[in-house]
Amino acid sequence: MQIRSRIIGLGSYLPERVLTNLELEGMVETSNEWILNRTGISERRIASEEEAASDLAYNASVAALKHAGIKKEDLDFIIVATVTPDMLFPSTACLVQYKLGIKNIFSFDISAACSGFIYALSVADQYIRSGIYRTGLVIGVDVFSKVVDWSDRSTCVLFGDGAGAAILQADSGDRGIISTHLHSDGRLWDILYIPGGGSRTPPSEEMLKNKLQYIKMRGNELFKVAVNTLCDSISEVLKFNGLKSDDIKLFIPHQANLRIIQAVGKKLNIPLERFKINLDVYGNTSAASVPIALCESVSEHMVRESDYVLLEAFGSGLTWGAALIKW
Ligand code: UT7
Repeated sequence: MQIRSRIIGLGSYLPERVLTNLELEGMVETSNEWILNRTGISERRIASEEEAASDLAYNASVAALKHAGIKKEDLDFIIVATVTPDMLFPSTACLVQYKLGIKNIFSFDISAACSGFIYALSVADQYIRSGIYRTGLVIGVDVFSKVVDWSDRSTCVLFGDGAGAAILQADSGDRGIISTHLHSDGRLWDILYIPGGGSRTPPSEEMLKNKLQYIKMRGNELFKVAVNTLCDSISEVLKFNGLKSDDIKLFIPHQANLRIIQAVGKKLNIPLERFKINLDVYGNTSAASVPIALCESVSEHMVRESDYVLLEAFGSGLTWGAALIKW
């Protein structure tokens, strides 16, 4: 009998504070028109001073557990995908476990930036398919507002904060995660990164003076890589499973830039309506973008039982990947 991991519950959490393009006009030399035309983003959510990754992740997890209708004690493990953890260690997953008040499970973080949720989903899927574990909580969370330079217009307008969570459970039917496909190319590590704060350049006055604690990005180059990797990911999933793009009910891409999604649709001849898009209101929430979009798609009934859903993302690393789900 084949075991599949089925997503039995989803939850998301977006901080209350909305930061609009108009407000950004007062902070850096930018305009609502530039941001909208170049990215498709109108507003994004910003965590409060007190809120860290584990707080956002906890809220999304509680919602996902409720949606799944299971008890927190039913969980065997927690995997958190994030590159903005509460602290360097312990893992944010252990902090979520502590907040949920669960014992006797294992928890760890995955660092794959915006592809993180798909990486975490893939790892969780292997544990469940192998029959070793039955139920897992997988979270994508990032709080980029705390690591962007709010005086750098080329990055600060792009990102927002959020968390998305999924409960995976072993199932013997034909629904669930069908296949996952992961890739990385470390040669492109410096296309998007935070240079300071780690063991290469530990915190120091010099580091802070040079603003090395903030995101550095070569946006233009990344744009092209993003389109290619997303197209490759989609094509790989379709080929591997013997499917055509018309067989997919909904494509759920990483929400980085509307123009990237448009370019992917154009290249693969997939109409834009078949892509879930919510970057207009949340911006790029990094590892949270795909699970938040999936959660919304399900609650808006854009996906129904037995539909194929294709998740795809790219991010710092460079990492990229995709997952095919039979809902
Ligand atoms: O999760 C992965 C995260 N990152 C990405 O996916 C980023 C991928 N890249 C992109 O989305 C786009 O490259 C950006 C949105 C970052 C930039 O758009 P672009 O069309 O590639 O613009 P550009 O970088 O070529 O900049 C065009 C101009 C420049 O001025 P000059 O040199 O032509 O005078 C920039 O200085 O736009 C200027 N610019 C801005 N102007 C107003 C850059 N940022 C801004 C801004 N407001 N916020």
